[in-house]
Amino acid sequence: MGGPDGYSRPGIAGSGAIACGLAACASRTGTVRLLARSDASAWRAEESAQTEAKKVEGAAPDRIRVTTDAADLAECDVIVEAIIEDAEAKAELLARLAAAAAGADLATTTSSLPIGELADAAGVGDRFYGLHVFNPVTRMELIELCLPDGLRDGVRERALEWCRAMDKTAVEVPDQVGFVVNRLLFPYLFEAVRMKEATGMSAEDVDACMQLGAGHPMGPLKLLDFVGLDVAAAIGESLERDGAGGGGDHVPDLVREMVGEGKLGRKSGEGFFEY
Ligand code: 3HC
Repeated sequence: MGGPDGYSRPGIAGSGAIACGLAACASRTGTVRLLARSDASAWRAEESAQTEAKKVEGAAPDRIRVTTDAADLAECDVIVEAIIEDAEAKAELLARLAAAAAGADLATTTSSLPIGELADAAGVGDRFYGLHVFNPVTRMELIELCLPDGLRDGVRERALEWCRAMDKTAVEVPDQVGFVVNRLLFPYLFEAVRMKEATGMSAEDVDACMQLGAGHPMGPLKLLDFVGLDVAAAIGESLERDGAGGGGDHVPDLVREMVGEGKLGRKSGEGFFEY
């Protein structure tokens, strides 16, 4: 269970892979309330979060309770929003969560939206921070914590302690688009796409070079397939708007074309590879 200074009544809003993976990890720290937006997504989320929890030492599938009513999160001491990467949708939900759970700290798993702007849009400034986890959440050790100035007392300590209780390593990062990992990772992933196009190399060969020569667990094109090409394009667009990668962050035309054709990577059955 969560330490004395961390959280022990976590809530997660969302029902996708990130939300379910985080719910699984959070069940190490207490009973988790997982907020889905419909009955159908609630059933799917319950099954998926419980399956994920079986993969995590110290996690407890039966401590994950799924609901579609935000009022069930009223007693939570933290609520992490983990829905679609859309600033308006996130701000609307965060404002609703803030009203439903007046005492809770609030966080977001956004990968590329500025935390300060989201806080202003949702009106949750002094209790809101970024908690960026990585896919697959149950396996990836890092959490990028973006803790803005002006947080109310104890938020930073609670956030750090909770990450520890989930057996994750937290690194505090500045409020810059893409934080650290995506800001460095995506220019590299996109460069791999450009290289494949320019040279005619196969996806297998590009990936083999980086796996075997640089010791990466997964090549860049397979990783793009796993991230999802639509998600990758959205992250790239945020980085591009910010001028983060000196031009290397521009979304390759091939990625846009593949998204247009419904080739989104692993989730659609086809991307740079077939699944
Ligand atoms: N996204 C989603 N699932 C992933 C994944 C990814 N990037 N990488 C691996 N997985 C899943 C696999 O599908 C598999 O799932 P299953 O058990 O349900 O079949 C499981 O993780 C194990 O994968 P492997 O077979 O590769 O097993 P290994 O034990 O050899 O390695 C690993 C596991 C260490 C997770 C390795 O696969 C790895 O390092 N993958 C890359 C992870 C990564 O780079 N993640 C960051 C992506 S960027 C991101 O998340 C930021 C966000 O903002 C977009």
